[in-house]
Order: sequence, then C-alpha cells, then structure tokens
Amino acid sequence: MTLNYQRFGSYHNKMDSDNYSKEKEGMVLNIAIMVVSMIAIAMVTVSVVAHIDGSKQDAGKNVKTLLSVCTKTEEPEICFRVLKHVGETATVLNYVKAAINATLTELLFVIRPKPRLERSLTLLQQESYKDCLELLSLGKEELESLYLMANFYVDLSELNLDDLLNSLSAVISYQHACTDELIRINSYGVLGYSLQVPILLTRIALAIVDNFSERPNSREPRRLEEFARWFSERERKMIESNQGDNGGEQWPINVVVAQDGSGHFSTIADSLNACPKNKTIACVIYVKRGKYEERVVIPKGVKVFMYGDGPAHTIVSGTNTRDPRIVTTSFRAATFVVMGKGFICKDMGFTAPADITGAPALLVLSDHAAFFNCKIDGNEGTLYAVAQRQFYRDCEILGSVDIIKGDSATVIQNSQIILKPRNSSDLVLRRNVMSAQSRLDKYQTTGLVIQNCTITAQKESMNTLNATTYLGSPYSEYSRTIIMESFLGDVIHPKGWCKWSDNYGIETATFWEFDNRGPGARTDKRVKWNGYSTIFERNQMVSYTVGRFLQADQWLLNRGIPYESGFVVLK
Ligand SMILES: *[C@@H]1O[C@H](CO)[C@@H](O)[C@H](O)[C@H]1NC(C)=O
Ligand SMILES: *[C@@H]1O[C@H](CO)[C@@H](O)[C@H](O)[C@H]1NC(C)=O
Ligand SMILES: *[C@@H]1O[C@H](CO)[C@@H](O)[C@H](O)[C@H]1NC(C)=O
Ligand SMILES: *[C@@H]1O[C@H](CO)[C@@H](O)[C@H](O)[C@H]1NC(C)=O
Ligand SMILES: *[C@@H]1O[C@H](CO)[C@@H](O)[C@H](O)[C@H]1NC(C)=O
Ligand SMILES: *[C@@H]1O[C@H](CO)[C@@H](O)[C@H](O)[C@H]1NC(C)=O
Repeated sequence: MTLNYQRFGSYHNKMDSDNYSKEKEGMVLNIAIMVVSMIAIAMVTVSVVAHIDGSKQDAGKNVKTLLSVCTKTEEPEICFRVLKHVGETATVLNYVKAAINATLTELLFVIRPKPRLERSLTLLQQESYKDCLELLSLGKEELESLYLMANFYVDLSELNLDDLLNSLSAVISYQHACTDELIRINSYGVLGYSLQVPILLTRIALAIVDNFSERPNSREPRRLEEFARWFSERERKMIESNQGDNGGEQWPINVVVAQDGSGHFSTIADSLNACPKNKTIACVIYVKRGKYEERVVIPKGVKVFMYGDGPAHTIVSGTNTRDPRIVTTSFRAATFVVMGKGFICKDMGFTAPADITGAPALLVLSDHAAFFNCKIDGNEGTLYAVAQRQFYRDCEILGSVDIIKGDSATVIQNSQIILKPRNSSDLVLRRNVMSAQSRLDKYQTTGLVIQNCTITAQKESMNTLNATTYLGSPYSEYSRTIIMESFLGDVIHPKGWCKWSDNYGIETATFWEFDNRGPGARTDKRVKWNGYSTIFERNQMVSYTVGRFLQADQWLLNRGIPYESGFVVLK
C-alpha cells in the first residue's frame, strides 16, 4: 500500500464514500443520525422563536437571548437545542460554559474504552485509534481547563480572549487531526462519525466567543508577570545574557546528552525521563553533537528547553529500525514529537526517517513552541504543526509537498524554505505544494504566516523545479496561508496556488500575498479565486504579525529567541 498525501481529501468529501465499517460500531453511526434528526427537530423551534428576536434587543449589556447567540453559529438549530436549558436570557459566558460542557460530555463519550471496536481493528487501525485517543485527550484537557476558567469568571470580558479563542481553536484542530489521520488510512468509520458531534459543538462554542468578544485592537502585552514563571529569574538572566550567542557552555545546563559518554545520558529519550513533571520548572537539555537515531517525544506536562551544537551537528534522525514497508501513522512515523507546553529549541537538526512516505521530521502539538536556528528536513509533510501557537525563526525547512501542514497558528520568520524534487513518475503528482494549512472553521484563530523568508529550490534541482511549486492549496474549507515580506524564487508557479479537489475551499480560503519580491512574486498570473488576494494595505496585515497573531509579547519575550513583533520592512 502506498500512501498518497495529496489525494486523500478532506473529510467533508470523504464522509459518504467511506462507510464500509458502519456496521462495525452501530453506536457511532447512531450519533451521526442523531445529528441529522436534531437538525430537523430544531429547525421547527427556531422558525417559531425567530419572531420574538426583535423584542429582546435591549436586554442588558451582558445578557443575550439564546436566539441571538445561536444565530451567530453555523448550526443555529443544534446550538439552540444544546443551550436551551441555560435559559432564555443569560450572560454570554453562561452560554459559552454550557457549550464547553456539552462538548466535553460528548468527547468523553467518544474516548471511553470500546473493547469491541478495538478488537475488530487491523494493526494500522489500532495504531491510528491510539493516536486519536492521544489527540482527543489533549482536546479534553484543554476543555477541562476552559471549563474551570469559565466557572471562575462572571463575564466573558474578564477572560484572556486570545487564549480562549486559541484554546477552542486547538480543540477543533486536535479532533480534525484525528479524523484526517483516519481518512489517510481509509478508516474514517473507526472514530470519525462519533467525532462529528463534539467537533460541531466546539465550533458552536468558538462562534459564540468570537462573535460576542470585543477583542482589543491594540497590542497591549497583558499579564506581564506571567513571563517570569516560565523560567526562573536565574535561568532568565542567563538566557538573556546569552542572547544571539550560538555557543552552549554558559547556558544553565541541567542535563547533558552525549554519544561519547561525556554527558549524563547517551540518548535524548533517556534525558527526558530525568525531567521533572513540573510545568513551572524548565528542564534544560544540552544535546552534544552527533546523529541521534531515535524517535523523541517531549512528553505532556514537562517544560523543556533543548539546544544542540548547531543544526548541522546535532541531528535527530528518527529510528532506523522500523521496516519502511510497514505503513504507519504520521504520529508514529515522526522523528520528533512535541507535546509539552512551552517547548523551546535552538541549534538543532531534525530529519524525517527516509523511505516512510509522509513522515514528518517534526510534529508539534502544544502551545507556545518556539524554534530558533533549526533545520527541519523531510520530504512530504516535513513540518506537521498540528495545533496551538508556534514560532520558527532562522530555520531551514526542506521538503517537496505539503511541507508545512496542520491547523495551528504558526509564524515562520527569517527562514529558508527549500524545495526538493518530488519522487514520483506521475507528472501530475510531480507538482510541489508548500502549505497544506487545514483550518476547518472560519472562527479558528489558526493559519500559517511566512514572513521575511526565502522560498527557493534546492541548488542541484533548480532547473527541474522551475515553476513547479505552489504556495498552498485549500486543504480544508477555511485554509489560511499568508506570505508576506518574503523572497519567492523561480520555483513558484505563476498561478501561485493550486486546487485541492474540484473547487473545494477556493472561495472560502484565505490565501494572501503582501509585499513579496523575487521572480516568483509576480501576481499578474495568479489564480482568480475569492479566497486569494494580493494585499497592498499594511493595516490589513497587522493582525498577521507575530505580536498580534501569536500574542508573542505575552509568551516569547525574554526566552532567548529573537523575534520581530511587527513588520520587517519599516515604512
Ligand atoms: C454539564 O453537562 C452535564 C452532563 O450533560 C449536565 O448534567 C450538567 O448540568 C452540565 N452543567 C452545566 C453547567 O451546563
Ligand atoms: C457577529 O455576527 C454578526 C452576523 O451574524 C456580524 O454582523 C458581526 O460582525 C459579528 N460580530 C463579531 C464581533 O464577530
Ligand atoms: C513544581 O515546582 C514548584 C517550584 O519548585 C513547586 O512549588 C511545585 O510543588 C512543583 N510541582 C510539582 C507538581 O512537583
Ligand atoms: C530578513 O531575513 C534575513 C535572513 O533571512 C535577515 O538577514 C534580515 O535581517 C531579515 N530582516 C529583518 C528586518 O529582520
Ligand atoms: C523513489 O521512489 C522509488 C519507488 O517508489 C524508490 O525505489 C526510490 O528509492 C525513491 N528515490 C528516492 C530518492 O527516494
Ligand atoms: C525558469 O523559467 C523562466 C521562464 O519560464 C526562466 O526565465 C528562468 O531563467 C528559469 N529559471 C531557471 C533556474 O531555470
């Protein structure tokens, strides 16, 4: 079985065709049917209630009618049904809380043990099922802390709305990554149907928050005192004093990994076992030069700061023990997986395992991840930025197709994206695509921003790759990729962007180009889709700068990673 990353499509298209295992888990299917009937029942209710909407206009400032809340969501009928027990009038936060609670209830139902289902799965299905449970448990934890937070406050405006929107967006991304993986191995029926309900409910919660939050437009770094908690004062001072310095010796070394026996451990995995499970203390790991043929997972609940001897010297390359003929999931194939929040990495190289099609060199699932001076080298799906806020600076990212994928809020700044030829004899499949960003919902705060980067072909492939590469493709309905202040080489096709399947997503995507240069940056022959725009106004772009899009000033300041918070080109 050969996997084809380009063609497995979004689950929207797949839902009807992939129904072979419907009988296997009757319960799963029932839920899907329930959604349909919920729509039918609720439609009646809503059309009746619609008349009284006008009369409720002047309810108190924070008090909204259920109807006014639900009409802002894409599924007003289901929203109405799920939230009607909250009452006809309540604070917006009450509705949000109830939507979060309902999502959590559904998600817990999906992830509870299903021995009968598990027994019926093939080995590959079992692996992806376990990956899904891992992803969904991240979503569950996110929802649980949101619920606690929502319980603590009275009004939506008291919460950090950027964090709240990011968190709800991530819950969608985790669930979406699970269904994507199932589709990839042709097993949507395993969990996919049962995830329709929690995904829908998360989208409802997100729509309510988005519509009723008044997000400040100014970039005020709130809650400054939070920085200090990531690193201790001592660590922070030492990191700051080393800013810009490539050398390792003066860092506050807690653990040293060296293959020659000069450190505490000889593998990165062993060093991680020594890290305290404590989100408030950073575990600092210095990985000395060497090629580390191991699969690394930065575990949940551990805050790690890792640095090497430079991207050409400290290289993590995945295992060489796995039989390349065995098809596996993205998560198991990935060389380096980051689950722990606040992971910071400098001066390292990551290489995708050779021969496993679509194996990511780096897969990041957690919030506040930052990479500086790293080389991320793969082929298809090199960097899988699954969810949450991520920042990459002064990095080299190599690949051929879907080089950067996932549904996170990611900014790649001052970096080089280098195209490799795609290993395919099929002419159609020879086209390269840089971004497979997969934003599912229009209210998700996710997207891929490429700022002050160069996108060029590998030197030895300059001729074969001339005009073969597209900047992105609408992998999901609201895919969002922004290319700004960058150099685009000959490698970019004059059309710029390519379709995914039929016209899917081309009207709803957000593909923007702003202030780019180079032979590939000419926009006169670009696609004519509603989803594509060349932007000329700086003020339209402000919300995609690092300070605004990632709220970097709230978490990246003083962490030893330089970043440009606003535009790179001063005007
Ligand atoms: C949360 O959900 C549970 C189970 O559906 C329900 O019993 C409970 O009343 C809900 N709580 C709130 C505050 O909505
Ligand atoms: C809320 O939704 C309405 C339409 O449903 C829209 O006009 C309005 O701009 C939205 N507000 C926000 C803050 O998104
Ligand atoms: C984490 O470290 C802090 C500071 O040393 C300590 O107060 C806290 O109890 C630790 N938490 C855990 C779970 O070990
Ligand atoms: C843009 O990136 C290049 C390296 O890729 C760097 O030399 C230059 O200083 C960057 N510009 C700014 C303003 O950061
Ligand atoms: C390209 O793919 C073929 C068969 O799929 C394989 O034999 C060959 O080694 C691959 N080449 C590279 C450079 O990966
Ligand atoms: C790519 O093609 C264009 C014209 O199609 C040509 O002007 C340019 O020199 C080519 N670049 C390379 C590196 O071959």
